[in-house]
Amino acid sequence: RTQPHKPFSIKSQAAPVLSQDELKKLAADKAVDSVKSGMILGLGTGSTAAFVVDKLGLLLSTGQLSNIIGIPTSKRTQEQAASLNIPLSTLDLHPHIDLAIDGADEVDPNLDLVKGRGGALLREKMVEAASSSFIVVADDSKLVSGLGGSGLAMPVEVVQFCWKYNLVRLQGLFKELGCEAKLRLDASEKPYVTDNGNYIVDLYFQNPIKDGFGAGKEISALEGVVEHGLFLGMATSVIIAGKTGVEIMTK
Ligand code: 5RP
Repeated sequence: RTQPHKPFSIKSQAAPVLSQDELKKLAADKAVDSVKSGMILGLGTGSTAAFVVDKLGLLLSTGQLSNIIGIPTSKRTQEQAASLNIPLSTLDLHPHIDLAIDGADEVDPNLDLVKGRGGALLREKMVEAASSSFIVVADDSKLVSGLGGSGLAMPVEVVQFCWKYNLVRLQGLFKELGCEAKLRLDASEKPYVTDNGNYIVDLYFQNPIKDGFGAGKEISALEGVVEHGLFLGMATSVIIAGKTGVEIMTK
């Protein structure tokens, strides 16, 4: 007796699930496609921007790119780029940057950003403001519908002098958003000191910021505040890598 046919079964082949680092690298590689030989480049800070710097180092070492000058946004990035033999300079010597590529902590639908959880917001903002184009690279975990809406920190760099006074004033500015302000600490529970010798007060919001420009102005108006992590109207495009591939958001 013949056996009845077993129903034909297809083993569903799940699409490979990329890790967060693989997504960051995808976005970084896509952004580097916009880099041309001879450009002055703003080099961002953070784990996603580090993939950009790695790729630039590789393209320079294989001769696929040449005559690049990088303007790093932190000591960390400066060290990484130097180790890859990427020629470096400063904003003083190159006040006009062709293209900056950097990560972000939050990206809203208007391409406005929160940056600085890596502590480099001041130099990042200076370099990115001096750039003709600014491409943001991120994985899709960074997308928010409103800035401050991730529940994670929105950093403000403050001078060390009477930092607590400013922490209280910052928290008071956003009382109605359920804002909690905390001094950022380093791994040894000491105040985190930025590359510029300042402290960071991290703001945690229960509700997203409705008027980013208004909030930015109010923060900047406080004496002793050096810079805040709201990067508004600065990004030219955002490259987001997610499960469905790489998406380029432009205005
Ligand atoms: C550092 C930054 C970084 O760009 C931001 O924190 C994103 O970092 P990562 O790519 O590691 O998630 O603003 O000051």
